[in-house]
Amino acid sequence: MNRDVEKILFTEEQIARRVRELGAALAREYAGKEPLMVCILKGACVFFSDLVRATDIPLSLDFMQASSYGAGAVSSGDVRIVKDVGTPVAGRHVILVEDIVDSGNSLCRLRALFAGRGAASVKICAFLDKKARRTAPVEADYAGYEIEDAFVVGYGLDYAERYRNLPYIGILKRSVYEK
Ligand code: PRP
Repeated sequence: MNRDVEKILFTEEQIARRVRELGAALAREYAGKEPLMVCILKGACVFFSDLVRATDIPLSLDFMQASSYGAGAVSSGDVRIVKDVGTPVAGRHVILVEDIVDSGNSLCRLRALFAGRGAASVKICAFLDKKARRTAPVEADYAGYEIEDAFVVGYGLDYAERYRNLPYIGILKRSVYEK
């Protein structure tokens, strides 16, 4: 285990099993609809690459980057579009794929953006859901796990751009971000 990690929340094996279940649920729900799955960079990149391979139906994918945190640990509430999708969205069934929903600010803004572009539907698939921190009116339609309010890293999630490559999800030691 990485020495900055206090405790492992979800192992590689648990993650793989849950992602397969989410992919199977999406495949059932979107059969015949050829959804557009949108990876919200950077955090979702690891989950996204596993999820699309677990979703065994015709689909297309694209990438978008929205940034709300900067280098700190607290959401600024301000969501900035750093990179937009290139795929025309009108009439498409869009699935926004996130690593985590926290305040919900990012997804609230992104969901409205895709709805405004004429998507046939917009749903949210997030691997982690920190319901206790929600301030914006948004819920994940598909979620891997609901978690408590702890600082989690790994499987795409970072602290100051580090730890995204850990294959598990763990709680970061307080000493790392409080020094
Ligand atoms: C994180 C995460 C979500 C968002 C969740 O992204 O990936 O996009 O914050 O927080 P919210 O529900 O409070 O909006 P971040 O802006 O840190 O960028 P990153 O994905 O590149 O790490």
